[in-house]
Amino acid sequence: MHFDTSKYLKYLRPNTLGSNLLYLEETTSTNDEVWKHIKDNNHIVVIAERQKEGRGRRNSTWHSFQEKSLTFSIGIELSKSIANHISFIVPLSICKAIRKNFQINVGVKWPNDIIVNNKKIAGVLIESKLHKSIQIYNIGIGINVNLNKDDLRSLDIKNITSILFETNRMVDREKLLSEILIFMDEYLLKSQDEIIELWLDNCVHLDMKVQFHKNNEIISGVFKSIDNNGNAIIDVDNKIKSFSSGVIEL
Ligand code: BTN
Repeated sequence: MHFDTSKYLKYLRPNTLGSNLLYLEETTSTNDEVWKHIKDNNHIVVIAERQKEGRGRRNSTWHSFQEKSLTFSIGIELSKSIANHISFIVPLSICKAIRKNFQINVGVKWPNDIIVNNKKIAGVLIESKLHKSIQIYNIGIGINVNLNKDDLRSLDIKNITSILFETNRMVDREKLLSEILIFMDEYLLKSQDEIIELWLDNCVHLDMKVQFHKNNEIISGVFKSIDNNGNAIIDVDNKIKSFSSGVIEL
């Protein structure tokens, strides 16, 4: 079934994040659409059934399936104090919405992957630009919602999964999207300390040995925390190091 915008709007509280929704059958990337439309709005959510050039973090391609994925972007102005932890607010909102409806053990992997049973179920790509001296954030979210076993296999990507595959239940995409946005609206009001604490509670690799891939180097250490700037704090041979970018392998 196509995404039903009127059903979605019924789930949403009026005048909250997500009430300004643009639905498209096809686009290059919903992040591109946000950059086109944000100028006339102070926030916008763009959802598409098909992306021809879906992009992921670190120059990767993001694959989605028509009517089976949730593929959307949120364009929003953010103050500097919130901007530092938006990268944590977004995956936390996704986890909370998934957990509310499904009994699966969902958590976050630094910086903003959403993980179930060591497999990625959703990813977040955050872009930002200064527009008329206001910092605009463009938050692209891809969730593997109703992908079946064959869909997942066809992607040929290691360690990925979907909500359907994990639960054997079809997901109401309209309800899931509205709940993510409702939780995000709530988390945007929390302090940075509260968000960091929540993120650490949801982290699937806290105090665990991880391999950290940074440029061409592989660093092994124990993941200890995140700091106020969103850096990963890792204990490497009893020395505490902080990393602003890189990929964690569990
Ligand atoms: C990642 O690499 O984990 C981030 C994936 C982000 C994918 C989403 S799908 C909607 C939005 N549009 C894009 O082109 N990318 C993001």
